[in-house]
Amino acid sequence: MNNFEIYNPTRVFFGKDETERVGKECASYGKKVLLTFGGGSIKKTGLYDRVINLLRVENMEVFELSGIQPNPRLSSVRKGVDICKKEGIDIILAVGGGSVLDASKIIATGARYNGDPWDFFTKKANPKPGLPLGTILTLAATGSEMNHNAVITNEETEEKWAVVDPAIFPTFSILDPVNTFSVPRDQTINGICDILAHLFEQYFHNTPESPIQDRMNEAIMTTVIEYTPRVLSKGDDYDARAVIMWAGTLALNHLLESGVDDDWSTHNIQHELSALYDIPHGAGLAIIFPQWMKYVLDIIPHKFAHFGERVWDLSRDGKTDRELGMSAIEQTKAWFQKIGAPVSLKEVNIGPERLEEMAEKAVCRGPLGSVKPLYKEDVLNILQMCL
Ligand code: NZQ
Ligand code: ZN
Repeated sequence: MNNFEIYNPTRVFFGKDETERVGKECASYGKKVLLTFGGGSIKKTGLYDRVINLLRVENMEVFELSGIQPNPRLSSVRKGVDICKKEGIDIILAVGGGSVLDASKIIATGARYNGDPWDFFTKKANPKPGLPLGTILTLAATGSEMNHNAVITNEETEEKWAVVDPAIFPTFSILDPVNTFSVPRDQTINGICDILAHLFEQYFHNTPESPIQDRMNEAIMTTVIEYTPRVLSKGDDYDARAVIMWAGTLALNHLLESGVDDDWSTHNIQHELSALYDIPHGAGLAIIFPQWMKYVLDIIPHKFAHFGERVWDLSRDGKTDRELGMSAIEQTKAWFQKIGAPVSLKEVNIGPERLEEMAEKAVCRGPLGSVKPLYKEDVLNILQMCL
């Protein structure tokens, strides 16, 4: 196991009716709140009205930034920063999925920075602790509710880049599984693919003697696989939604990555797909992951064999690690297909035209990953395998 430092200041309120506390929590940080949200799902479900009432009961002055898109754009972030600076906002309340939360994290730090928020992505400036940020999560997927990552698309340059910095943790997050009942089937599937992908990124590594991280990871993977059919057959199954929601948070709150060399090359390749083609993050991951697994199988065959035995319950039957590992990869791809996720670029209408451009952009800041450092040729090979 490697040395590590772990720090997570986000206060989590989990469970049914925890939404009720949002007014009081926000009011403890000041009077002026900027409510950020997406394309309107919270208006349809009634969550918007409920939140507004809870804030008004506490006599808060509410400002709004709506229309934050999936794969959130830099232009939304800039708008949010302008409102915060102009109105003297005390706290931001983000209500939505990972896109709304990520945009709000950069708005919060950008509000206390005298420059353009894209500077945090190009490393021209480091984010500093910004305005307090509360969140109400409405979609289980990214883990953004309890982590220090944010991914934003610069629509002018077609770049989708991440900021990873302890300065951008949410201050508090409300995780009420009832708020995810309305997530449509396709977004539920995308979210589950993303959760599993986060687990894979931290499970397939080269670090020896990390059984605690690996066993915790396997426990979350098997639980997600077990509860997925339940959540897909009945979207308002409270317990199933609760399990998936907590799995999403635990899958990416820095616990599992502590002490191991996590990889993240699949995510970096996926971000290029979303930057050019605006496809859902989870769908891109379901396409790329099985191919990345095949590409690195020979480097850590024992790890893929464990994955087969412990997660997919495959029996060894005299197979080598490599053979068992390959069966586990096929099983993973078949499972994505079974739940309705795409497993090829063709299924999301992406052809070979821009693969080279994506490969080039993916490695523009150096090779990807840790299991096997991926250079442009490797990324291109993997993308071609996805066709
Ligand atoms: O915009 P609205 O109308 O709210 O609709 C959203 C959106 O269309 C809808 N939705 C969300 N909650 C709903 C709902 N519809 C009905 N009922 C509800 N309760 O779902 C759609 C997708 O929302 P989005 O926020 O984009 O999804 P997700 O949570 O998967 O976030 C994806 C973004 O997060 C980034 C991705 O790259 C992508 O940009 N990621 C962030 C990470 C992080 N911060 O750690 C890590 C991830 O790996 C990922 O990169
Ligand atoms: Zn992800």
